[in-house]
Amino acid sequence: MTGLLEAREVSVRYGSLAALDGVDLCIHDGQRHALIGPNGAGKTTLLNVIGGSARPQRGTVRFDGRDVGRLGPAARARRGINRIHQRPAVFPTLTATENVVVAALPRVIPRRRWWPGGRRRAAQHLAGPLLDQMGLTAVAAVPAGHLAHGQRRQLEIAMALAGRPRLLLLDEPAAGLSAIEVGRLVELLQALPRAVAVLLVEHRLDLVYALSDTVTVLRDGQTLAAGTPDEIRTSPLVRQAYADGVA
Ligand SMILES: Nc1ncnc2c1ncn2[C@@H]1O[C@H](COP(=O)(O)OP(=O)(O)OP(=O)(O)O)[C@@H](O)[C@H]1O
Ligand SMILES: [Mg+2]
Repeated sequence: MTGLLEAREVSVRYGSLAALDGVDLCIHDGQRHALIGPNGAGKTTLLNVIGGSARPQRGTVRFDGRDVGRLGPAARARRGINRIHQRPAVFPTLTATENVVVAALPRVIPRRRWWPGGRRRAAQHLAGPLLDQMGLTAVAAVPAGHLAHGQRRQLEIAMALAGRPRLLLLDEPAAGLSAIEVGRLVELLQALPRAVAVLLVEHRLDLVYALSDTVTVLRDGQTLAAGTPDEIRTSPLVRQAYADGVA
């Protein structure tokens, strides 16, 4: 069976360190896939390879049946791979709405190229529902730099959704959030439409089990295990890896 995303035999070296060593990953349309493993296992590196911000020395990345290995992050975003990073990246002086409008502009360019005002209005039409979807309507006019950390995370996801992704890459979205913020984030992620597949990197296993239907475990740049949350939860190999190395 072919997947929406197929990464094969991906290897990334930094000097003598193998950050990834022959990793395969397949994600299907609408799937919720979690990537877990101890610190330094290669999780962010694999997201970088899939998102286009790192080039593997070996291996291929195919998305929607096409080789995207030569494309950078912007070109992959146009094809439907969008990303949030380990640290939130929003424009602090722009309002929440303006941040989503900026993120939505590339999506409305092809239809409205001849009419810049029309592009902006089209993007503004998209922003309202996305802010609503991410629970941010009440703070739509607040500069992003004044938002709470959890709200900035939600805004970043709204911005990623503005690109109409078919695959959303989330790198530790719950990092630094309070318990209440984490609960809210989980609800919002659970409510994402199934048209969007999700690849979630997360250390917190309670979130992984709440949000994913398949899990890949990396360790030292290699795949240690892959399976359903139940299979991973009961795997002695995974227990050992976590006993050995997770923060
Ligand atoms: N740009 C880089 N230059 C050199 N080494 C790097 C670089 N990026 C990552 N590494 C190394 O590659 C390995 C994998 O890093 P990566 O960030 O992918 O791990 P991770 O699984 O995301 O870890 P964490 O859970 O701590 O975020 C680590 O040993 C890291 O130090
Ligand atoms: Mg990481």
